[in-house]
Amino acid sequence: MTFEGHHFGLPPPAMGRSYPKPFPSIISLILIPLALLALIYLFLYPKDLELQYSLVVTTCGPSLPPSSSNFIGPVTPKPDFRLLIGILTRADLYERRHLLRLVYSLQPRLATAHIDIRFVFCNLTKEDQRVIVALEILRYDDIIILNCTENMDNGKTYTYFSSLPELFNGTDAAGDDRPYDYVMKTDDDTYLILDNLAVSLKNKSREDMYYGFVLPCVSMDPFHDYMSGMGYILSWDLIEWISTSEMVRNRTVGPEDRLTAEWLRDGNKAKNRYTAKPAMYDHPDSQPRSFCRHEFVPHTILVHKVKNNLNWARTLKYFNATDGLKPSKFYHIS
Ligand SMILES: *[C@@H]1O[C@H](CO)[C@@H](O)[C@H](O)[C@H]1NC(C)=O
Ligand SMILES: *[C@@H]1O[C@H](CO)[C@@H](O)[C@H](O)[C@H]1NC(C)=O
Ligand SMILES: *[C@@H]1O[C@H](CO)[C@@H](O)[C@H](O)[C@H]1NC(C)=O
Ligand SMILES: *[C@@H]1O[C@H](CO)[C@@H](O)[C@H](O)[C@H]1NC(C)=O
Ligand SMILES: *[C@@H]1O[C@H](CO)[C@@H](O)[C@H](O)[C@H]1NC(C)=O
Ligand SMILES: *[C@@H]1O[C@H](CO)[C@@H](O)[C@H](O)[C@H]1NC(C)=O
Repeated sequence: MTFEGHHFGLPPPAMGRSYPKPFPSIISLILIPLALLALIYLFLYPKDLELQYSLVVTTCGPSLPPSSSNFIGPVTPKPDFRLLIGILTRADLYERRHLLRLVYSLQPRLATAHIDIRFVFCNLTKEDQRVIVALEILRYDDIIILNCTENMDNGKTYTYFSSLPELFNGTDAAGDDRPYDYVMKTDDDTYLILDNLAVSLKNKSREDMYYGFVLPCVSMDPFHDYMSGMGYILSWDLIEWISTSEMVRNRTVGPEDRLTAEWLRDGNKAKNRYTAKPAMYDHPDSQPRSFCRHEFVPHTILVHKVKNNLNWARTLKYFNATDGLKPSKFYHIS
């Protein structure tokens, strides 16, 4: 999933897949007038972008999700920053991925940040995974399969961070020397409000930066202890450092969030640190009772431990996710 201002679409690699193509002259015959139309529309009706682009895109290729496009590329101003969000999950959790795609594709986005969301897991091990995950990739192209055996505290986060420089090698944004400014590690029981996150990151340092929910729960000092694994962000320079440091490579086994802080401490890194409290917290109903939980608050960035559908529903309800639903004789929801 790619989010940029109002629009959301596939990352560049997805566009490179080869479908049978019409002749180039036909493509340009169709696309140039469409591009002009889209440009005019962009100036007249900036709020309706998503609809417009979904119309444009369906003419480009049947295998793209309806609201996706790279079409906006040339007319998009440079984003404030580029953020890669890796949701660490397991191959079998199809339904959770479905829910998360739904939730994030419907979130309103106003901030001018470029945000890509990827689901991250280790090697597939089963016959059904090899087919169903392949279908997901064909449809969404938002999955990264790392070279590891599925685990939680046995180096998966290290493999994630340290694989990124090579995975994204050569995909630097135009005029930039790195593919992303920030990389986030988060979990599949975490709900993010992308716009609030984007606003919060706007004035933060782009270098040597470590951002999240500092533990212990009551602490407000990001320079001690560590950021909770519910969701933390590192600047790209630290990702590059992690991928090359021998000290880090030697220490990959243990609770991943605490280890990350130990690497940074022993490497004398992350001079810029921020804790996003109280905008990050555990779900108010999370069990067992967590000291890091509190009631929902309006400017939330992240809710963690959203474990079951009822918790998801209450979270989404509070944040007005269903407000856009129009009355219709085709359904009754009450
Ligand atoms: C994948 O990981 C295994 C075990 O750690 C290693 O032997 C192998 O070289 C790795 N393969 C690649 C392509 O990196
Ligand atoms: C993961 O799968 C790849 C390709 O099948 C294989 O080369 C690699 O050794 C596996 N890695 C691990 C850690 O099992
Ligand atoms: C990126 O690609 C360049 C050119 O192929 C290569 O020299 C460099 O080592 C690669 N960097 C990483 C981190 O893989
Ligand atoms: C960023 O902006 C917020 C709200 O305007 C402010 O409270 C905070 O101090 C700023 N942070 C930095 C690092 O400038
Ligand atoms: C990493 O571990 C190896 C083998 O145990 C050791 O020789 C080396 O000094 C360690 N490097 C660092 C930077 O700790
Ligand atoms: C949800 O909508 C209600 C009614 O419009 C509004 O009062 C409330 O502030 C909104 N909640 C959030 C979290 O935006």
